[in-house]
Amino acid sequence: MKRMLSAIKPTGQLTLGNYIGALKNFVSYQNDHEMICFIANLHCITVYQEPQELKKNLKDAVALYLAAGLDPKKTTIFLQTDVLEHAQLGYILACNTYLGELNRMTQFKDKVAKGETGLTAGLYTYPCLMAADILLYDADLVPVGDDQKQHVELTRDIAIRFNNRYGDDSFVVPEPLVAKVGKRVMSLNDPTKKMSKSEHNDKGCIYLLDDPKVAYKKIMGAVTDSLAKIDYDPINQPGIANLIEIESALTNEDIESIVMRNKDKGYGDFKKEVATVVSDVLIDLQSKYKEIISSGMIDQILEEGAQKARKIATKKLSKIQRRVGIEIKKRH
Ligand code: TYM
Repeated sequence: MKRMLSAIKPTGQLTLGNYIGALKNFVSYQNDHEMICFIANLHCITVYQEPQELKKNLKDAVALYLAAGLDPKKTTIFLQTDVLEHAQLGYILACNTYLGELNRMTQFKDKVAKGETGLTAGLYTYPCLMAADILLYDADLVPVGDDQKQHVELTRDIAIRFNNRYGDDSFVVPEPLVAKVGKRVMSLNDPTKKMSKSEHNDKGCIYLLDDPKVAYKKIMGAVTDSLAKIDYDPINQPGIANLIEIESALTNEDIESIVMRNKDKGYGDFKKEVATVVSDVLIDLQSKYKEIISSGMIDQILEEGAQKARKIATKKLSKIQRRVGIEIKKRH
């Protein structure tokens, strides 16, 4: 069975983009892969977070993992900071990554280009920590949305370089796995931009814990175009294409079939259909989320997940440290 690993960074509430591009896929992959799925809390603090709010967001994210259907019997679920080896391997990999490579990461480049100030060293080196997250577990596959593909590609480059320097079987070289439909859910407000939790305009982003009625309204208010036809044309009709993809990802109905069924509908009626699908998904997720939050099961699930993860991580880190020459006595 191939090993698969992924994570979400809950800086804020999880979004419909996280669900469609990542979480929902993890749930289907867990049946035929050895799945490792953690909460990337170290990645969260690359940008300042209000501590109490962050703590709530972390817990909510675990509850949403479970509500979406991740099963702790099949998937190893844990908090990144409960496995100290992530940060340590992150440092070792940072020593095997070039500044030029980090300078080319589009997420960082975009922030610099926008003139954002107060960018931290942690944000700059975060792809090295992400590489450690993946390589620590010898993951074969990394399911991510489109925006994270570049980081997995850098992880491959780092792994190949490390293997060349320190021995071929140091790390498994992972492959990114990007789903065909929903790999880049766009903002409802500006369908040329990615739907994102850091977006400053809430109308463009649906949060998984949004009141379903509010989410319905957000879809109804989605920016479209004046062409007045339902067609899947991401270049000329990005707003409509985005709604078609959202519906297709959530219902598994083909894009062509959604287009055919809605050919003669006006935008208002089509939006109602998509809005109903989205709010139904949220209603279901949120009722499970509430049960999970009140059950008090989260701490135990995280502890069991961390124990399983540590077993793999401690062995791997020790092997890597010996290869690099920084460990004298065999620890494991
Ligand atoms: P993050 O938290 O930004 O996003 C989590 C996952 O959700 C996907 N995603 C989207 N997919 C489609 N449309 C969107 N609008 C959208 N927004 C987000 C992302 O592509 C991602 O798959 N660095 C990572 C977290 C991470 C990680 C890892 C992932 C840390 N370590 C190791 C994989 C493996 C991040 O910030 O994702």
